[in-house]
Amino acid sequence: MKLKHIISAEQFTRPFLDEVFGRASYMERVADDGGSKNLVQKVMATFFYEPSTRTRLSFEAAMHRLGGRVMSTDHASQFSSVAKGEDIQDSIRTVSCYADVIVLRSPQVGFAKKAAEASSVPIINAGDGAGEHPTQALLDAYTIHKACGGIDGKRIVLVGDLHNGRTVRSLVKLAALYRPEEFVFVAPDAVRMRTDIRDYLTERSIPFRDEPDFPAALGRADVVYMTRLQKERFGDRVEEYEACKGRYVLDVAMLEHLPEKALIMHPLPRNEEISREVDSDPRAGYFTQVKNGLYVRMALLRMLLG
Ligand code: NCD
Repeated sequence: MKLKHIISAEQFTRPFLDEVFGRASYMERVADDGGSKNLVQKVMATFFYEPSTRTRLSFEAAMHRLGGRVMSTDHASQFSSVAKGEDIQDSIRTVSCYADVIVLRSPQVGFAKKAAEASSVPIINAGDGAGEHPTQALLDAYTIHKACGGIDGKRIVLVGDLHNGRTVRSLVKLAALYRPEEFVFVAPDAVRMRTDIRDYLTERSIPFRDEPDFPAALGRADVVYMTRLQKERFGDRVEEYEACKGRYVLDVAMLEHLPEKALIMHPLPRNEEISREVDSDPRAGYFTQVKNGLYVRMALLRMLLG
């Protein structure tokens, strides 16, 4: 399926997801065999204005595994001409003269969309502030697909900073293409899920509710998706951040409430919201998500550049 830019999970369709999942599964074998040379003549640029470990490196690893080459600016605000006051559209127009695809992360909502307007090559949104993170949603959905057999009929519990977390926003939009049983939002009052996402679900007749009682929410979960408080988005509202901190923590005692077959997810990085002892629980899927991220991004690069 032809796809130019990947900006929002709103672009996705069921046939597109089927194709990504099929290709990602094939990429598991390609990566295990050491990779391929399919993208040997292609160059990918990563342009990151915000910190990242997984997203940037997994895109880079994906490109390397497919034989392609990589150029990287991981402190774009300091180490690119943006620091000299260059307009983003000029920067992107320039980078698109060198690269065949640009992976972009910025603190500004809508940044990737603006970049796409200036770019002659595909733009992949690797996070635009509290906006979206569509490729994370793809790897999350692929993980649910493999571990639980799909999203249909599942009760998905989202926990933590649902106001500022872009991964949950993209995941909800993606999951709305299916028929989940319901979404359950577990968040401190200051960081509740935003109205636009609630409206998105209402328009598509997908049930959702808020549930402040964490054990009750866990008790009937098929998937529990934990998230970090996005400290960087609180600015000088330090007291508000402190009030939310530690409110919902998945530790060994909490695990008692979780059904035996549930899947525990987290986009990472984590702070204190999942205790380390949980890592050895068979339901912990967050490092599997990391692995799946590589396969999904290999699939996407192949689809965009193949
Ligand atoms: C997330 C992000 O950057 O939005 N991380 C990721 O890409 N895997 C989540 C976060 O920063 O909390």
